[in-house]
Amino acid sequence: MRIAICPGSFDPVTLGHMDIITRAQKVFDKVIVAVLINPEKHTSFTVEERIDLLNRATAGLENVEVVGFNGLLADYARMRNAAAIVKGLRAVTDFEYEFQMALINKKLNPGLETMFLTTSSENMFLSSSIVKQIASFGGDISNFVPECILQDIQERLCTGGRKE
Ligand code: PNS
Repeated sequence: MRIAICPGSFDPVTLGHMDIITRAQKVFDKVIVAVLINPEKHTSFTVEERIDLLNRATAGLENVEVVGFNGLLADYARMRNAAAIVKGLRAVTDFEYEFQMALINKKLNPGLETMFLTTSSENMFLSSSIVKQIASFGGDISNFVPECILQDIQERLCTGGRKE
């Protein structure tokens, strides 16, 4: 079975992420959406909330599993027997960082490939931080996040995010 990992912070999941996950699950037998657990990084949604949002957004996709992970992605991929990391590339600005990550992950786990999908043109500008910014100023984010989780995302973000 060919397994791919789509890793990220998903704070929150956007239609850009959904595009990559949906396309990856057509190519691989199984896609593991791996949400980074990083207590040091401030996030608007807890890891449990991010996993819940992703589970609801991917409910129609049979071969997708959503998990939290900590530590090195290369180690997690080895543990789950994944053949590839699949990520979306939006623009040249993403490239340098993603290239560095891909090379490091290859050193750490030579059996693991990193594959990039070119983002769909309508998602070129889209990121979780842009969604957060628009929502925090009361803007309409309905074109940027999955409809089934829109309300939950809006409610959290328009009130200024998670309170510590
Ligand atoms: O959505 P993001 O925040 O761009 O995702 C980044 C992510 C989770 C893919 C990246 O931070 C990651 O892989 N973190 C796990 C730690 C790791 O393996 N780092 C690379 C080697 S130093």
